[in-house]
Amino acid sequence: MTLHLPEHVTIIEVGPRDGLQNENNFIPTDAKKKFINALRLAGLKEMELTSFVSPKWVPQMSDAAEIAEECLDDGTRNIVLAPNRKGIDRVYMTGCKAVALFVGVSNSFNQKNINKTTKESMEEAKPIIKELKEKGYFVRACISTAFYCPYEGKISEEDTIKLCEEFVASGADELSVADTIGMAAPHESYSLFSKLKKTFPERLLTAHFHDTRKMALTNIFAALQAGISRFDTSAGGLGGCPFAPGAAGNAATEDVVFMLERMGIRTGIDLEKLLHAIEVVQPHLSHPIESTYYRFNAQPN
Ligand code: HMG
Ligand code: MG
Repeated sequence: MTLHLPEHVTIIEVGPRDGLQNENNFIPTDAKKKFINALRLAGLKEMELTSFVSPKWVPQMSDAAEIAEECLDDGTRNIVLAPNRKGIDRVYMTGCKAVALFVGVSNSFNQKNINKTTKESMEEAKPIIKELKEKGYFVRACISTAFYCPYEGKISEEDTIKLCEEFVASGADELSVADTIGMAAPHESYSLFSKLKKTFPERLLTAHFHDTRKMALTNIFAALQAGISRFDTSAGGLGGCPFAPGAAGNAATEDVVFMLERMGIRTGIDLEKLLHAIEVVQPHLSHPIESTYYRFNAQPN
């Protein structure tokens, strides 16, 4: 068997958004800004900064406008999430030029997450994507519950590919395909990502794994074998969706970078500086950092 080991992999850092949205304590806006800057210094060139969701639903993201306004950086892709028209109008008030829309393959999850059916969300998303593209925005589509749903169980590959097709036909530049509750196993990761790669050979394809059952690294390795070379990860392994019961943190950026670099795959990320970025946000968290690389390498204070 010949392993598929690309020379370079792109890491999309989702810590400031997915990582922090599930934190119980409100993280001071200033600490979020310092976290983002420290992550950039570590070499992360694509990052989800925040999300323009309802502050009543996700109070942690209530400072989205300030973050998006003050943390823009010319040399990097600054992504912000938006769930609906109101969110997009808020994005237009900032200088941010990359937007992520998020829709669940599972209807039940989508309703709990954004209060619409999957079909209703897509009806709203399609003209928005067209408009964003006409205005020159980069459009990322986050496909939630692509493998399993906390309410409906196993999701069929056909349903996931169908939703991806709708996004691609609407003009989305990137598909970030997510195992929201960390339930997928490596054979499922390999199978779905192989099919996605075949169906959308020209599209940016990204894998987004949550590490609930400690299978994120093996799922990433399986997706790598399917030809995927873009991964969403979160510094410190922070993360989870407040509306997906049982969802734990994302694959930890430092664990993923360590594994990839050990295999000779370049990521452009400096692990020392990444640890420093985690130290910036760590004092504001209500729980310890659990990633393996952090536990072995962080200096005790
Ligand atoms: P709703 O209550 O149905 O909204 O929530 P509405 O349209 O009926 O409006 C109700 C109120 O919310 C109104 O204000 C609106 O103006 C306001 P009021 O008149 O009551 O004062 N509102 C907003 N305010 C700010 N920004 C907005 C916005 N929209 C309406 N964009 C809504 C619908 C979508 C807003 C809500 O369900 C929501 O905010 N959901 C977000 C949930 C979320 O953030 N989930 C986590 C992100 S997804 C994720 O983590 C998964 C991912 O990582 C991939 C994976 O792992 O699966 C991406
Ligand atoms: Mg997520």
